[in-house]
Amino acid sequence: MGAAGVMLSVDRLNVYIQASHILRDVSLAVGPREVVCLVGRNGAGKTTTLRSILGYLAPQSGTIRFLGRDIAGRRPFEIAQQGLGFAPEDSAIFADLTVAENVEISTWTRKTSRTAEERLALAYAVFPALTRYRARKGTQLSGGERKMLSIARALALDPTMLLLDEPFEGLSPAIIPEIGQSILEITTMGHAILIAESNIHHVPEYTTRLYVIERGEIVFSGPPAEVWKDEAVLRIIGGTPSWQSFR
Ligand SMILES: Nc1ncnc2c1ncn2[C@@H]1O[C@H](COP(=O)(O)OP(=O)(O)OP(=O)(O)O)[C@@H](O)[C@H]1O
Ligand SMILES: [Mg+2]
Repeated sequence: MGAAGVMLSVDRLNVYIQASHILRDVSLAVGPREVVCLVGRNGAGKTTTLRSILGYLAPQSGTIRFLGRDIAGRRPFEIAQQGLGFAPEDSAIFADLTVAENVEISTWTRKTSRTAEERLALAYAVFPALTRYRARKGTQLSGGERKMLSIARALALDPTMLLLDEPFEGLSPAIIPEIGQSILEITTMGHAILIAESNIHHVPEYTTRLYVIERGEIVFSGPPAEVWKDEAVLRIIGGTPSWQSFR
């Protein structure tokens, strides 16, 4: 992928949390309209990678470029303003606010060429189920509904790129394809997506590129089909090749 085709590029990122060296020379890239998955088991460094990109953690070394700008060391608010939306692992919705208010907040935090009405319409179009719960408080939602709201809220930011941390975690198998379809719809609207996922079996089939992270190091990068041929990597992430053949 040439430099012109890169939207986000992370190059040899090293991140420490206190004295622990958590990310070791992590490099990855996401191009326009791509769906890229960062796969790794619990504690591998997925959330740390996303939090570093978003400015919540300051890297020791390495570069993070988004839309041609170096964003390493910038504040989370500034990075969000530049068009990086985020749906965190725990959803982190505002429990005391209604669904409608949660989604609306994003239209205040970032101004774009689209009107607030257009952006809200877009978020509800991707997650029509939320329309019924507009008046409900965050506390009155199920885990799956909170996940949808968290992604819808990030979408209402009208981001150029979305970072989703474990969007499928804790969801029933029946709803995973539904959320997967909503994510695909997001990309057809022109947004790029980076997903952190601990379960290789949840990686959507339309994923363009996959990175495997283990103990803070990228140990694989390539098209998803390739990972199923790599026994050593499959052992790390707990993927069973026979599963794939049934899909
Ligand atoms: N605030 C912190 N203080 C100390 N260590 C931390 C902190 N946050 C994360 N770590 C450590 O950094 C490593 C990577 O954690 P991270 O949250 O990035 O993993 P993850 O891949 O997102 O895992 P999971 O699938 O469980 O969400 C782990 O060993 C974790 O214990
Ligand atoms: Mg995590």
